[in-house]
Amino acid sequence: MGDCHTGRQWQPHRGHARPSTATGIRAIRHPDWQGQRVTSVYCLELAGEADDEAFAALEAERAASASALSRVAPGLATARGVRLGRVPTLAYTHRVSELVGRTDASIASAVAVLQAASIERTGSVAVRARNVRSTAEVSTASAERELGGVLVERDFTVDLDDPDHELRVCFADDVCLVGWLVAERNAAFGSRAPTDRPFFQPGSMAPMDARAYVNLAAGPALPDATVLDPMCGTGGLLIEAGLAGARAIGSDAQWKMARGAAENLDHYLPDADWDVVRGDATELPVADDAADAVVFDAPYGRQSKIAGHELADLVGGALAEAARVAPACVLVADRSWVDVARDAGWEVEARFERRVHRSLVRHVHVLRRA
Ligand SMILES: C[S@@+](CC[C@H](N)C(=O)[O-])C[C@H]1O[C@@H](n2cnc3c(N)ncnc32)[C@H](O)[C@@H]1O
Repeated sequence: MGDCHTGRQWQPHRGHARPSTATGIRAIRHPDWQGQRVTSVYCLELAGEADDEAFAALEAERAASASALSRVAPGLATARGVRLGRVPTLAYTHRVSELVGRTDASIASAVAVLQAASIERTGSVAVRARNVRSTAEVSTASAERELGGVLVERDFTVDLDDPDHELRVCFADDVCLVGWLVAERNAAFGSRAPTDRPFFQPGSMAPMDARAYVNLAAGPALPDATVLDPMCGTGGLLIEAGLAGARAIGSDAQWKMARGAAENLDHYLPDADWDVVRGDATELPVADDAADAVVFDAPYGRQSKIAGHELADLVGGALAEAARVAPACVLVADRSWVDVARDAGWEVEARFERRVHRSLVRHVHVLRRA
């Protein structure tokens, strides 16, 4: 159970054993499933819009070790090794399938690929076809019927409600990827909408984005990671860090926020190991290298209260503290802080500009200790 307090030093913490709150993985009956890296080729169905694809790809690379990731069409990518057990914790990848084949975007070609494939599966199947972002000229209903027919000819039974195997047939632009579903995102982000939390303040981050930022910051170290948010506000990033399996620790300069974040964490992570304190992000009560990653959403100047600093000093000071306590960081802000990040001892690995609404673009800085 977590704790909201002041005056204690957090210590480095590694490999803490606790019940996984991570996910409730959907059971997909597949011999290769249980989380190990398998060197097949995979199809990734990416979430979000076209602008989100580079962001989604980096999340999959960092948090699910997707290697040789290559975008092949709108919303679709292929990758080699994937840590399948981490896929349920991703935000911007919907599904991962083991690739049967890649063709042009015609049903006849997809049928030919399936007819030629060796299939070492038995039992019931469902074929689900998608026309990703309506970019292909194809009838998904016809595709499901015709590819289903191929499988019935090969002695499968069809069960649309609870199949043993699901064949994904994804059309996008002039490409079709056919594959067996092996893992999917366990989203449920809607159930954690900021307005439904016990403690809510305007400006709270959407859970799907918060999860992606946590994954970008701590991905390779998850789930046995300690993730620190030094400006935790209502705790949105900490909730997602905890649900991804990490030990979540946070601080906020305002008592109201520290208490509110603790209330939210208690609600969503009742059995997990977390801590929230009231404190200044530029002087954290944390030992050097106490965390695997720092992730934070800096005040936007207009909305958030800035305690005791000019904004640039606050962000610079917080980044310098972050570099002392962790080797990786994701900073989310309403402007670029690239120069400030470099001055604070970080190398900028990637940067994204993500439009939230007409008057807010989020700048996402993915940082590695220089
Ligand atoms: C943009 S909000 C964070 C929102 C948060 N990600 C959420 O989902 O609710 C920035 C937070 O920084 C906090 N803050 C401002 N100055 C601070 C300081 N010097 N040290 C720690 N926190 C500070 C504010 O109280 C505010 O809660």
